[in-house]
Amino acid sequence: MERVRAILKAHVERAYAPYSGFPVVALVEAEGEVFLGVNVENASFPLSQCAERNAVAAMVLAGKRKLERVHIYSPRGPIPPCGGCRQVLLEFGGPEAEVVMHGPQGYEVRSLGELLPLGFKL
Ligand code: THU
Repeated sequence: MERVRAILKAHVERAYAPYSGFPVVALVEAEGEVFLGVNVENASFPLSQCAERNAVAAMVLAGKRKLERVHIYSPRGPIPPCGGCRQVLLEFGGPEAEVVMHGPQGYEVRSLGELLPLGFKL
């Protein structure tokens, strides 16, 4: 876990969060590989993208579809993923996926099913 925490802390400064001042980095573990994403904000606020969704996009681009664990770090964390990101994570993780919420002092672990008990499925 210390190696993952070092990666998170090293990359959170890549976040583009000039409007909120709230940088976030996400690291997705999928099929033996890891994928990173940061939040990318926009002057047109609703176009801003969350770190988790950008990490999932990197995973899909690499041809991976099965997400086992996601780590989320913010200097103001631990923070839980927003509702929209929970639904996106569920698409590839299922309810058993682990969500590890990190802050500078430590981390908390929940299953995705705990965070989103009634996720939408087609
Ligand atoms: N944010 C994330 O990147 N992930 C979350 O799960 C919660 C919120 C970002 C969006 C926005 O850029 C900033 O945090 C403040 O809401």
